[in-house]
Amino acid sequence: MKKNISDYKALVNEYLQEALPIEPGCFKTLYKAMNYSLEAGGKRIRPILMQLSYEAVGGKGDISRYLCAIEMIHTYSLIHDDLPAMDNDDLRRGIPTNHIVFGEAAAILAGDGLLNLAFEYMLEDALKHGGTERVRAAYILSQASGIKGMIAGQILDIESENKVINLQTLDTIHLHKTGALIAAATKMGAVLGLGTPEEIEILEEYGKDIGKVFQIIDDILDKVSTDKELGKPTGSDVKNHKNTYLSFYSVEECYCIADKLTKRALLSLDNLKGDTTLLAQIAEELIKRRN
Ligand code: IPE
Ligand code: IPE
Ligand code: MG
Ligand code: MG
Ligand code: MG
Repeated sequence: MKKNISDYKALVNEYLQEALPIEPGCFKTLYKAMNYSLEAGGKRIRPILMQLSYEAVGGKGDISRYLCAIEMIHTYSLIHDDLPAMDNDDLRRGIPTNHIVFGEAAAILAGDGLLNLAFEYMLEDALKHGGTERVRAAYILSQASGIKGMIAGQILDIESENKVINLQTLDTIHLHKTGALIAAATKMGAVLGLGTPEEIEILEEYGKDIGKVFQIIDDILDKVSTDKELGKPTGSDVKNHKNTYLSFYSVEECYCIADKLTKRALLSLDNLKGDTTLLAQIAEELIKRRN
């Protein structure tokens, strides 16, 4: 068991560094574009949550392939989210967005490349080691990042621009575009660690709650933060006429809702026997985050 969250982040970064595609030949542009966004940093919250959930149910082996896979899929989703046809943003993780540096075509293909590499990584590992839990983890990620999860949320988010929608629809957007991948992280960790059905369910519920908090805070920071602090352009939601939590509530009310969800997430962790200290710390820190 590592001591603190930054140790886990360092571990994830080490794994990602090893996983970077190296191909000096004629596919150089594609590999460079993929590595550019993957190496740019980011909080690495999804792989950290997966590893902590894995350990919370007693998992002890190496799940680096699954940690890298979820971060590759998340990074691809950011590259595509920033494209002119989507949110049209020019700053991400503190540096120019992928399409600004490499052009739109290469950015689209770099995103596609990361998506497919993620599945190559997981399935290679599952073939090598066997075990239905590995295949199940890949299956969970395929659903959460696909048309039952993130992609579904993204289309609804885009289609809701310039429209009046109700809060239920906004919650559906948030649950899919952001919550699905975060809940997949905790669920995959529990599945890979051979958790009981109850443990898997508890960690998935915890993931859903903090996933919602995560997007509520993301919506707030788009309004109250600065580009420098956030590493991405503030005011992007207003520019794109998005529906966000701030279309329905004041910043203070948003924090109140996020606080209730955080408390519920913490309560779910109480039902686990394993060590959940750092999972609890993450839940508490997410609501206070500034980037
Ligand atoms: C940003 O995700 C996109 C959302 C789902 C809100 P993160 O805030 O996790 O971005 P990085 O990985 O730290 O850059
Ligand atoms: C996008 O939400 C979530 C993704 C699936 C990438 P946002 O569009 O609000 O994310 P940011 O603010 O650009 O990071
Ligand atoms: Mg978006
Ligand atoms: Mg965006
Ligand atoms: Mg946002």
